[in-house]
Amino acid sequence: MQATGRVKTGIDGLDEMLQGGLPENHIVVVMGSFGTGKTTLGLQFLMEGLRKDEPCIFISLEEDKESVARNASAFGWDISGALEKKKLGLFKLEPSDAKTTITRIKSELPKFVKGFGAKRVVVDSVSLLNMLFADENEKRANLFNLCQLLRSTGATTMLTAEVKDENPRSSRDGLAEYTADGVILLQSDESKEGGEVQLTIRILKMRRTGHSRRVKPYSITDKGITVHAGADVF
Ligand SMILES: Nc1ncnc2c1ncn2[C@@H]1O[C@H](COP(=O)(O)OP(=O)(O)OP(=O)(O)O)[C@@H](O)[C@H]1O
Ligand SMILES: [Mg+2]
Repeated sequence: MQATGRVKTGIDGLDEMLQGGLPENHIVVVMGSFGTGKTTLGLQFLMEGLRKDEPCIFISLEEDKESVARNASAFGWDISGALEKKKLGLFKLEPSDAKTTITRIKSELPKFVKGFGAKRVVVDSVSLLNMLFADENEKRANLFNLCQLLRSTGATTMLTAEVKDENPRSSRDGLAEYTADGVILLQSDESKEGGEVQLTIRILKMRRTGHSRRVKPYSITDKGITVHAGADVF
């Protein structure tokens, strides 16, 4: 029995692994090393929302508005209309200016998120967000507050996170995966024969739902991410 509604990620194979999609109002971390497609997955999740006319928010610590729009259009996703119509809200935070940014996170961000009525939120990335804070306690407190805020709005959220070099199954700060309701891991593995790198996705955690525990291959093409849920990884 499913206790909660499902929010389709917009990636069929992944929705299949999730038995229909992300549980509504979940906060899910998408973890992976650089270039594994975390930002793409986040954008694709928001595009699915925009297609259903749901208000969506992208909180970016990496790329500015133009760069996010260019990224999206490379996959054939036009976000300019949604930005103009205020269906898509883009909140850019400057990781280089910690003091100002922390003030904005505390004052402007809650108003923005609450006022927008978003059904879907992406934070890209919590690794950069955490870097703004000097110590472990502050990082933890900020992440906790942000998750509280996002949960209270009823939105379903994806947080992207970089992984540790020495332990690619754990995020750089080792915080988000405990706070979050779910963890999706993206990995790029050198294939045994050498040659092409294989991209794999797995669900490490998803509270309040059954899900696939299998490792599945995925690819990134000019249409975004495709998860090959029918295939196995060898
Ligand atoms: N049009 C495309 N066709 C095929 N592959 C693409 C295309 N656009 C991007 N990619 C692949 O997607 C990767 C980038 O994905 P994305 O930016 O989502 O990754 P990321 O995990 O967010 O990276 P980072 O850690 O640098 O933020 C590229 O390195 C490339 O391999
Ligand atoms: Mg990225």
